[in-house]
Amino acid sequence: MKKYGNWALVTGASAGIGEAYCFELAKLGYSIVLVARREERMKEIASKLEKQFSVKTLVIPVDITQEDFLEKITAKTKDLEIGILVSNAGFGKGGKFIELDQNKMAEMVKLNCVAPTILVHHFAKEMAKRKCGAIIHLASVVAYQAVPYYAVYSATKAFNLIFGESLWHELKENGIDSLVVSPGSTKSEFRQIAEIPENPHGMEAEEVVKISLKKLGKRSSIATGFINKLPEFFSRILPRRLWIKIVADQSKKNVGLD
Ligand SMILES: NC(=O)c1ccc[n+]([C@@H]2O[C@H](COP(=O)([O-])OP(=O)(O)OC[C@H]3O[C@@H](n4cnc5c(N)ncnc54)[C@H](OP(=O)(O)O)[C@@H]3O)[C@@H](O)[C@H]2O)c1
Repeated sequence: MKKYGNWALVTGASAGIGEAYCFELAKLGYSIVLVARREERMKEIASKLEKQFSVKTLVIPVDITQEDFLEKITAKTKDLEIGILVSNAGFGKGGKFIELDQNKMAEMVKLNCVAPTILVHHFAKEMAKRKCGAIIHLASVVAYQAVPYYAVYSATKAFNLIFGESLWHELKENGIDSLVVSPGSTKSEFRQIAEIPENPHGMEAEEVVKISLKKLGKRSSIATGFINKLPEFFSRILPRRLWIKIVADQSKKNVGLD
């Protein structure tokens, strides 16, 4: 992989896919800025990274849905050259739209869309000054079509996909590589937080991360694993209304409404 600098900043570094990015990037020699809310958990991860890979770490405990989150991050990173930004923190909640909690949905939009926009804007400007950098955006297989019963979550992930692919083109002239990563079901805390049953066939987070890092600088977006490439394929060949109905039948079961 091309060397983008010495530091990588990972949001959602305390668990799941974000934690796996911390390990894989440290293995490649990057020092890591860990961002999430759970400080103790991040300190444990940071200590392992330092011991196993002899890299530096910086733990920033912050809720990135709060208004002042960027100031809290930049106060601690202003002297670091962040070469890779992994915009990963996110959560999903499904159910019948009119029965979902409004505050929860607003929080989802803030975490999955507003925070990435602000973070990417800040760090892309810094990377552009150096004409070097990389941004990884976490979308999902649900980003490629409407997903009834996950209306807000799938819309936030479609945002991540379109945002990241647009920047892939736009930021090329600034020396910045942008990659959208769309995992399918992946083992992490995601399903526990979404209150849906675990999927024993989910991919390992490490596998998702390894696949994505191989494609950084080469592709605008990837779905991780063969089965996860199917939503994008079907959304191109099937009539839109038919594909929405097929997806709805599945997602209704997934949220326990069928
Ligand atoms: N796992 C899947 O099946 C799957 C599939 C497709 C896409 N994805 C996407 O992959 C990304 C990572 O998900 P995951 O599976 O790794 O989930 P996860 O295990 O639940 O991890 C989510 C991370 O986000 C952090 N986070 C949550 N709310 C936050 C907040 N307000 N401020 C700062 N950090 C916050 C959490 O840390 P704290 O709780 O410590 O703050 C945690 O580190 C998400 O964007 C998700 O949409 C996941």
